[in-house]
Amino acid sequence: MVNGLVDEIYVLLKKLCDVPSPSGFEDEVREIIIKELEPHVDEIWVDSMGNVISVKKGGGEGKLMLAAHMDEIGLMIRHIDKKGFLKFTPIGGWNERILPGQRVLIKTLNGKIIRGVVGIKPPHIMKPEEQKQVIPIHDLFIDIGVNSREEAEKLGVTIGSIAVIERDVVKLGNGKIVTGRAFDDKVGVATMIETIKHLKDAKIDVYAVATVQEEVGLKGARTSAYSINPDLAIAIDVTVASDVPGVPEENQVTKIGKGPAIKIMDGRSGSGHIAHPAIRELLIKTAQEENIPYQLEVLTGGTTDAAAIQLTRSGIPAGTLSIPTRYIHSPIELLSLEDVENAVKLLIATAKRIDSNWINNVLKKKIK
Ligand code: CO
Ligand code: ZN
Repeated sequence: MVNGLVDEIYVLLKKLCDVPSPSGFEDEVREIIIKELEPHVDEIWVDSMGNVISVKKGGGEGKLMLAAHMDEIGLMIRHIDKKGFLKFTPIGGWNERILPGQRVLIKTLNGKIIRGVVGIKPPHIMKPEEQKQVIPIHDLFIDIGVNSREEAEKLGVTIGSIAVIERDVVKLGNGKIVTGRAFDDKVGVATMIETIKHLKDAKIDVYAVATVQEEVGLKGARTSAYSINPDLAIAIDVTVASDVPGVPEENQVTKIGKGPAIKIMDGRSGSGHIAHPAIRELLIKTAQEENIPYQLEVLTGGTTDAAAIQLTRSGIPAGTLSIPTRYIHSPIELLSLEDVENAVKLLIATAKRIDSNWINNVLKKKIK
């Protein structure tokens, strides 16, 4: 259908991941997204939360909202000590075991990039029991190679500066597997942009929204869904693929390379999101008819923008399409570009099947 799509996805994903964008500080990635979407949409704007909202007009038979979050987890400097070491607090859900020994990029409030490292004691001076301990995040510090608070401030580092782990996107194995930082959810954003680029002749208008502040409470999705008031929404995000040694098959959730995952339910005991049955079924039927590989997903923790969108206004039918990803919320997230390609194909084919008849009779079950 679309030649060279995997390469196109790789280039775009790398571009999106190369800039830091912790929740609330999405400005750099937002500019990239606007540039990518603008030539392919009829309208595009930034709302008061910072969400990018774009519209690709189709036949006007309804409104489909696609949502992918452009924020990533990060760190925020909360204190600079007398020696110039930086103390920080997490933005979003970190596993603190990940942080010691990492190199970080600090972005000052006026946009300057400073390099640093999350310091760690060498094993030589650790007691055996100390080696097994996880250091709480509030005891960790960033070393930026200065001797005093004054020197740190001279570089532009202040309380409120943000940081992310420094890590490039690279290809592994056969070149279809990639690893890097912040695939959650820049791969969702890339999937959404590629869908918009290659979608033609839909009967409905498609609203592509790059949302802010998902990792800190699904905030951008809530307000953008309210303003768009779509007939239905599909969130695009990563999901757990734990198809690795030591994890029994029943706990793997999804596997990489087996197609995008159609969400049935997420959150602890279903407290996140339960996909609208008509959307779930449309995604499954479309994948089957188009011979696109797919997996079904039940995730027992975590959720996506779909959870907030579903509860907006009088309720908005919502579903989620997931990109299976290993090592989520670490700097070595790993996924298959072919799963992304298949997600794009599935979203395009799905959007083309939606019309006013399906919206009124299947989705909304209008009786009379
Ligand atoms: Co996340
Ligand atoms: Zn996410």
